[in-house]
Amino acid sequence: MADETSQLDTLLHEQRTFAPSEEFRKQANFNDPAVYERAAQDPQAYWAEQAANLSWFEDYDKVLEWNAPHAKWFLNGKLNAAYNAVDRHRTTSRKNKAAIMWEGEPGDSKVFTYEMLGREVDKAAHMLKNLGVKKGDRVTIYLPMIPELPISLLACAKIGAIHSVVFGGFSAKSLKERILDGDSDVVITADGGWRRGKVVPLKGNADAAVEGTAVRKMLVVQRVGDAAETEMVAGRDVYWHEEMAKAPSTPCAAEPMDSEDILFLLYTSGTTGKPKGIVHTTAGYLVGANTSMRSVFDLKDEDIFFCTADIGWVTGHTYIVYGPLSAGATVVMYEGAPDFPARDRFWEIVEKYSVTTLYTAPTSIRTFMKWGPQYVENHNLDTLRLLGTVGEPINPEAWMWYHEHIGKGRCPIVDTWWQTETGSAMIAPLPGITETKPGSATQPVPGILADVVDENGNSVEPGHGGYLVVKHPWPSMLRTVWGDDDRFKRTYFGQFEGTYLPGDGAHKDKDSYFWILGRIDDVINVSGHRIGTMEVESALVDHNAVAESAVIGRSHEVKGQAVTAFVTVKEGVETSPELVQELKQHVVDKIGAMARPEEIIFTAELPKTRSAKIMRRLLRDIAEGRVIGDTTTLADPSVVESLKNQYSNNE
Ligand code: WTA
Repeated sequence: MADETSQLDTLLHEQRTFAPSEEFRKQANFNDPAVYERAAQDPQAYWAEQAANLSWFEDYDKVLEWNAPHAKWFLNGKLNAAYNAVDRHRTTSRKNKAAIMWEGEPGDSKVFTYEMLGREVDKAAHMLKNLGVKKGDRVTIYLPMIPELPISLLACAKIGAIHSVVFGGFSAKSLKERILDGDSDVVITADGGWRRGKVVPLKGNADAAVEGTAVRKMLVVQRVGDAAETEMVAGRDVYWHEEMAKAPSTPCAAEPMDSEDILFLLYTSGTTGKPKGIVHTTAGYLVGANTSMRSVFDLKDEDIFFCTADIGWVTGHTYIVYGPLSAGATVVMYEGAPDFPARDRFWEIVEKYSVTTLYTAPTSIRTFMKWGPQYVENHNLDTLRLLGTVGEPINPEAWMWYHEHIGKGRCPIVDTWWQTETGSAMIAPLPGITETKPGSATQPVPGILADVVDENGNSVEPGHGGYLVVKHPWPSMLRTVWGDDDRFKRTYFGQFEGTYLPGDGAHKDKDSYFWILGRIDDVINVSGHRIGTMEVESALVDHNAVAESAVIGRSHEVKGQAVTAFVTVKEGVETSPELVQELKQHVVDKIGAMARPEEIIFTAELPKTRSAKIMRRLLRDIAEGRVIGDTTTLADPSVVESLKNQYSNNE
């Protein structure tokens, strides 16, 4: 763990601490430190207290049933996620409050009040019913960041259909895999989406993806119009706006869902080639999402909450849709990229909408640092009062830059550690209570019993590192992996019985603060996106020039980690710069742009141990220039072989 050790050294030299200002503390929703103790002593009572913030059609009769690793929360309760996110606000003073303020890439924008959003969701719910969608059916959603995306999620939730959102950057092949695995027969997509002035060809990908699947209906939102060529398949494809026009403008009754009925599937990369359909259920997920809005994000009715994630990832599910809306917030969502039309896109949005809370990823912050503060300086960011980060460890330099240049030294920063599987923020400061340290996600939120343990599952002493674990079930935990409960048990509970293993390494400092060090499995975190090394390796060997490949993540200044692929080619194949480009494009076609290898290194052989395990540490050291400097030296086929001998002694 050479690279982890040096990273840790830097982190542990970090001595700065930032206590909440008296002003912030006084107004915070959570400002009594006793909440931690109270929740630790009786997590169920704490979560039951939080669950009272939701609207229930029927009360639950038991808080938790734990047959490890299977949890049921709020047993026999009845509720509806869309009702909680939208409808319940329509009968209060929030009725005419902005729910979603949306900013499109070409400069178009829309504001939906809770009442307006509710009507759209009702209409869309009727439309889905008209198309034959029923409770429990899986609807695959492959849309750009346009209002129809949250409306689709909420319309599914309203009628009890299970949504499975696939990020618009995924390829046709990745989309197909997810449609097949989830066995879904309806897809919602768009003619295209805007990104950096270009059209993302969603409909074309969707057409290719549904071939050979059970998909019978494709609902197409018109977003880019003439900028894309859209072929509608007769009998299968229908336009969103035409179907919406046919749907009644009457309220659509919210389906009373059991607490444990599935709300959604969301696929995430694992250590094998096949992505896992993470299963989240209705009540527990909503309790986690809603609670963290009030605790970690200190949400107030006056707040304007801007989460820069895409709804295609869990961050968007929880902190654009279900969390903020269930808490009655105003959210800002945007289509496009942070540098188009200019590098001040975020700051322009913050200023235009008077954003109070900004939630973004360390990779974006590092990019802004690189661009320099001039893009920030000519915007008024005075409305900001709280900042958040998520997706990967944040280095102290980036934390400090965020603190100084965006927060102007005034806004607390909440570094939130969590995962698709955990549903909501797990390790994070409570901004009115916690003294923060740049680079540390600090401590588990109330009601979460996380720890750092050694390989025997024993808690490490402060000042030591090990596996991050969660020792007690929590409401928004995944319930299983769709269609593969064995994989669920093996992956998350196989190592330590009854204890959840997230797959991250962590260090616990002398104050018992957590410093997340990154993945300990074969998952790479590129700009906050999880990419399985196996997925990239399978994509590469699928190319007819490739014999074998090994993919590793090497540290990258901006992206956190970058995909580096070592490749051996088949007999008779000439390596060339053209082949490098072709292989990179092949990975993009197979998986999606986020998996594009940063570099491809041809080698005569892959270094393996005697038991045929690829020596990934050696490859990482090579890629990071620690053993031979410039990797072009690898043109000499004997290099890896001789390095292998050196390494096999200490592997
Ligand atoms: C990493 C995103 C350090 C971690 C919500 C985790 C983090 C994976 C942090 C989950 C953080 C997320 N500090 N690492 N604050 N947040 N991670 O499922 O490795 O897309 O396991 O969920 O991202 O990624 P996922």
